[in-house]
Amino acid sequence: MSVLVTGGAGFIGSNFVRSLLAEQPDSTVTVIDKLTYAGNKQNLDGLPEDRFTFVQGDICDAKLIDKLVSDTDIVVHFAAESHNDNSLREPWPFVETNIVGTYRILEAVRKHDKRLHHISTDEVFGDLELDDPTKFSDKTAYNPSSPYSATKAGSDHLVRAWVRSFGVKATISNCSNNYGPYQHIEKFIPRQITNILSDQKPKLYGSGQNVRDWIHVDDHNDAVLKIIESGKIGETYLIGANGEKGNKEVLETILELMDKPKDWFEVVNDRPGHDMRYAIDATKIERELGWRPKYTDIKSGLKQTIDWYTNHKDWWQPLKDAVEAKYLEKGQ
Ligand code: NAD
Ligand code: DAU
Repeated sequence: MSVLVTGGAGFIGSNFVRSLLAEQPDSTVTVIDKLTYAGNKQNLDGLPEDRFTFVQGDICDAKLIDKLVSDTDIVVHFAAESHNDNSLREPWPFVETNIVGTYRILEAVRKHDKRLHHISTDEVFGDLELDDPTKFSDKTAYNPSSPYSATKAGSDHLVRAWVRSFGVKATISNCSNNYGPYQHIEKFIPRQITNILSDQKPKLYGSGQNVRDWIHVDDHNDAVLKIIESGKIGETYLIGANGEKGNKEVLETILELMDKPKDWFEVVNDRPGHDMRYAIDATKIERELGWRPKYTDIKSGLKQTIDWYTNHKDWWQPLKDAVEAKYLEKGQ
């Protein structure tokens, strides 16, 4: 099987490429990645040269995408602008990559009759109240809040329309918040870990009560592999590991694991329009595809992640000052 992975130099995509090449010895992978600020070719170091090709390019480049798609069996589409805070500062790259880029992929898989798996997010469903007993399922109505989640919702709608109108062979997955190695330090968990490692106080938005449904990146990618193997064309699978935790609680666990006092953090300006809570009902993928998360204890997953950032200072330190300067402009 030859697999074209878009956005494979980013956090989840690079972990996916590593897992795929390890678990499927007959597979070959081509990554197309624009190497935006979020992409890092080093994330793909050490992969077998005879089974792995890297192409630097933009998914909005119709000619390049047409050629790469024609040469592959399946496209796994991770490429996106992925950070909510950036989408509030400058929405256009989100519209361009997440919507126009997905359109280019869809037109190419339609023309060449190739299988597509589209990676999406639980944020397309909007948010839940803290005390709401319901969780997101594939029947939940779309109600995105931020420019990021609205463009991801738009991309999901395009995929569904291309399946129904043109018979494109696609599946979609909507996953909750990932954590693990290679996550960009603009994101919550690595930002706090690298703050502590830099002797700076962690930064909590607003009340810290907001809940995210955390899943280890390897569990997300195992689920994606299952969908590629046996997912039903046209279906949407929600991926989550029952990892609901308040932001303050996650931060306190990180502080404890890094031997800092529980209250060693600063409260900073809240995110405008900040979603309160996400929660995934993953029954469908568990029942139909037999997927189960392996990282069921977030504390040990966080410990592994802290160790990774502690041992990879050369990977994140060059980015740290610029990331923090950008947050400081917004009092975050
Ligand atoms: P990331 O920001 O770490 O990586 C995105 C990658 O896409 C980068 O390597 C970047 O260079 C590349 N890219 C951006 N624009 C491109 C373009 N126009 N052409 C080619 N490449 C481009 O993101 P991530 O956290 O790894 O997320 C990957 C996917 O998973 C996204 O689609 C995101 O919406 C989705 N997702 C993320 C999470 C999460 O918690 N991080 C959860 C659910 C779904
Ligand atoms: O739910 C899936 C989504 O999870 C993905 O689609 C996105 O690509 C991914 O970035 C993530 O979105 P969030 O906005 O939930 O993640 P982020 O890491 O930015 O923030 C997690 C929570 O932590 C959120 O409630 C905001 C808060 N936060 C974030 C930062 C960066 C803080 O309190 N302090 C911070 O410094």
